[in-house]
Amino acid sequence: MNHIRIDLERTLGDIDRNIFGTFAEPVGRVIYGGIYDPDSLLADEDGLRTDLRAALKRLNFSVLRCPGGNFVSGYRWMDGIGSRHERPNRHELAWNAIESNQFGTNEFIKFCQKLNMEPYLVVNCGDGDMREAADWVEYCNGTGDSALVKLRREHGFEMPHKVKYWGIGNEVDGLWQIGYKTPEEYARAVTEFGKVMKRVDPDIKLIASAVSLWSGDIVERGQLMLEQAGDLIDYMALHWYVDNPENDFNKYMALSELFEERLSAYEGLIRAVSLDRGIKRCIPIAVDEWNVWHHPPEVDWFQNLEDALVIAMNLNAFIRHAHSVRMANISQIVNRRSPILTRQDGLLLQTIFYPFELYRRTCGQQALDVFWEGETFSGGEYTGVRTLDVSATLDESRNQLVVYVINRSETKAMETMISLADGQFSGSVQAYIINGPDVKAENTFDKPNEVGIRETTLKASGQSLTYSFEPHSVTALVCAIS
Ligand code: AHR
Repeated sequence: MNHIRIDLERTLGDIDRNIFGTFAEPVGRVIYGGIYDPDSLLADEDGLRTDLRAALKRLNFSVLRCPGGNFVSGYRWMDGIGSRHERPNRHELAWNAIESNQFGTNEFIKFCQKLNMEPYLVVNCGDGDMREAADWVEYCNGTGDSALVKLRREHGFEMPHKVKYWGIGNEVDGLWQIGYKTPEEYARAVTEFGKVMKRVDPDIKLIASAVSLWSGDIVERGQLMLEQAGDLIDYMALHWYVDNPENDFNKYMALSELFEERLSAYEGLIRAVSLDRGIKRCIPIAVDEWNVWHHPPEVDWFQNLEDALVIAMNLNAFIRHAHSVRMANISQIVNRRSPILTRQDGLLLQTIFYPFELYRRTCGQQALDVFWEGETFSGGEYTGVRTLDVSATLDESRNQLVVYVINRSETKAMETMISLADGQFSGSVQAYIINGPDVKAENTFDKPNEVGIRETTLKASGQSLTYSFEPHSVTALVCAIS
């Protein structure tokens, strides 16, 4: 028997809604032919398809990072403002494509407003300079009598966009990046870019690109960044993508341990350097690109049930690390490893759509420190991994506890006792279950409903509840408590 023990008073901190963010960059059909598709018969006046808009509303993303990604390291933001007819086509070198600049700053802001997402812009710290970066902040957020503010007004935007989140560069630790930077070069760049950007608007929050490669210089990069710009930056950004290249289910499922290692290590690094250098601000983590990844990334593919389990494992990790992970952006919003895949005549909700929608809809305000034990498995280099992956949240105002459980056994249901150290279950428990016929089940245009969410109602009272978690499933138990 597995056992989950929950003490409603052992909270880990508030959950930042920004962990339910996403990301968009002009690559493949993410923007052109995705969120901006004016030629579609379904498009509204801003080029957004009505079916896509409805699906995105269900995901209710809190924040949208744009325009990159690798793309941003060669991007000139001024190409994407003003009359659309006069915007230049550019050969962009990140993806070796032609960028038409039809979807620029103001289109992005309007799109965010339409879907109630906080905009998060990334400045070019590849082949761009700090003047360009500060100018972009001024164009978006300025209120004074300057030429750039006048320009925004001429473009039809009297009021400032008030863009709060600004990233400085993307994946600068990777040699693939236009303008790759050594740890020292990047720490210097962030210090200088950040200084002028915050002079333009002291209220903005700056996000430094910390780690994407995960080998070689993580410590040095983090240390230099904190030492030189610890009083300037507001988030350290981590990226990760995972996949199952060896088709080894257990190895794929054990990746929860890698997420834990990475988050714990990075939290520790920030704390150690902060202690050593007397940095009093607590700098949080933004996992501002994450997802499952299949090869080759250029083509659209169907995600399967095991991918959906991994998405839920990520969300559980973000909840368990709620005190440090204050933003996370699933990559990307549509048509590239995304929860939604469009084609001309309709769209498909991929398997990974469902865990994201479920967590977004049910997640409480506070993360709980859950203890659990029971059956274990081995996968890849990890042994003794608990078969269940668990997190829990509390919504005090609604007297609601939500327990999220991923059963990573391919074959066995997991009989589990959930007990409360204090408090009581008080009646209704709503169970939402994401599952499909087997771990390789995928939703396709021909069979769009192989994986989805089922809902059942149970009753529970007193201090414990026994539930059997289906094999290869994600379950949210939404419990009334007193
Ligand atoms: O999503 C595609 C790319 O993946 C992004 O441009 C980059 O940041 C990451 O490596």
